[in-house]
Amino acid sequence: MKVLVTGGLGFIGSHTCVSLMESGYDVVIADDLSNSSADVQERIAKIAGKTPAFYKADVTDQAAMERLFSAEKPEAIIHFAGFKSVPESVENPLKYYANNVGSTLVLCALMKRFGTRFIIFSSSATVYGDNEIPYREDMEPCRATNPYGRTKAMSEEIIRDFAASEGGRHKAALLRYFNPVGAHESGLLGEDPRGVPGNLMPYIQRVAAGKLPCLTVYGTDYPTVDGTGVRDYIHVMDLAQAHVAALRKLEAEQPAAGAGRGDSESTYIYNIGTGRGTSVLEMIQAFERATGVHIEYKAGPRRAGDLPEYYACADLAEKELGWKAKRSVEDMCRDAWNWQKNIK
Ligand code: UFG
Repeated sequence: MKVLVTGGLGFIGSHTCVSLMESGYDVVIADDLSNSSADVQERIAKIAGKTPAFYKADVTDQAAMERLFSAEKPEAIIHFAGFKSVPESVENPLKYYANNVGSTLVLCALMKRFGTRFIIFSSSATVYGDNEIPYREDMEPCRATNPYGRTKAMSEEIIRDFAASEGGRHKAALLRYFNPVGAHESGLLGEDPRGVPGNLMPYIQRVAAGKLPCLTVYGTDYPTVDGTGVRDYIHVMDLAQAHVAALRKLEAEQPAAGAGRGDSESTYIYNIGTGRGTSVLEMIQAFERATGVHIEYKAGPRRAGDLPEYYACADLAEKELGWKAKRSVEDMCRDAWNWQKNIK
């Protein structure tokens, strides 16, 4: 089966391309290189033993995407391409709505036109907003508290309505990621954000590499195990494999045979996390244990908009997809460091 991976040269996309190819899928990548680099295509090829097709294309460019669909006729789409900075989305919401929601609309229209059956959407735990923990898929969604999160919630809705139309001809999986970190165990793929990282793990990696002097811990007075923020970190290769499991699930479902759970029977929603929370201090300690490198840090004030603690209930993905995260926080730190050491 041929799978179009939008944003396939990015952090999560590139690892997912590897997992798909290793599972026998043909991969076509669409990526505009706005937050990725072209040499990732070769790195994927080195690991997977085969070069994925690559189109330099902006997914909101309907004409360019139409040419891709005409030439490649993908049977499934995994839609990663999107902007992902929360503060930038507050500064420039229209940029986020135009890109993140616009790309979803273009893909659904092309699925309809070309008869593409499956779509897996890269959603986020951020859609739960300030909710009871652990987050469960049957909770009221669309509680995102910033424009970035709302683009994810809106794309979910668009895909759900689209998949419910046309008699269930199209099937969708909405995967709500928790905090993806780590890197491919080869050290050939990983996360390398442009500029000063906004996220915890890339920041720790750069402090470890001596590229930044000191990590600031945003808040030490939260009502958590040690006062610092708690998140459900998931190894990017576990996350990549969840996409393969979700695609297999969609392929196995016959039209109109979906289980429902109050959604259209064409859409399945899964949390992709480990079900375990780790605090910022615990992450620093895990990194030091896994790598032997000291991380300099200082306490700072809370970051606006951060929640104290959240993690997934990950039972549904295990039950319905037969998928479960296997890698530990130490594995995430070791692989992230192994990758960081290879970055010039
Ligand atoms: N943190 C620090 N110092 C830093 C960076 C982060 O202490 O320099 C703390 C944060 O306060 C938080 C934790 O580390 O407690 C994790 O922060 P990240 O920025 O790595 O991740 P977030 O949980 O804030 O956000 C991530 C994604 C978002 C997504 C969100 C929803 O970056 O895109 O998860 O699950 F919306």
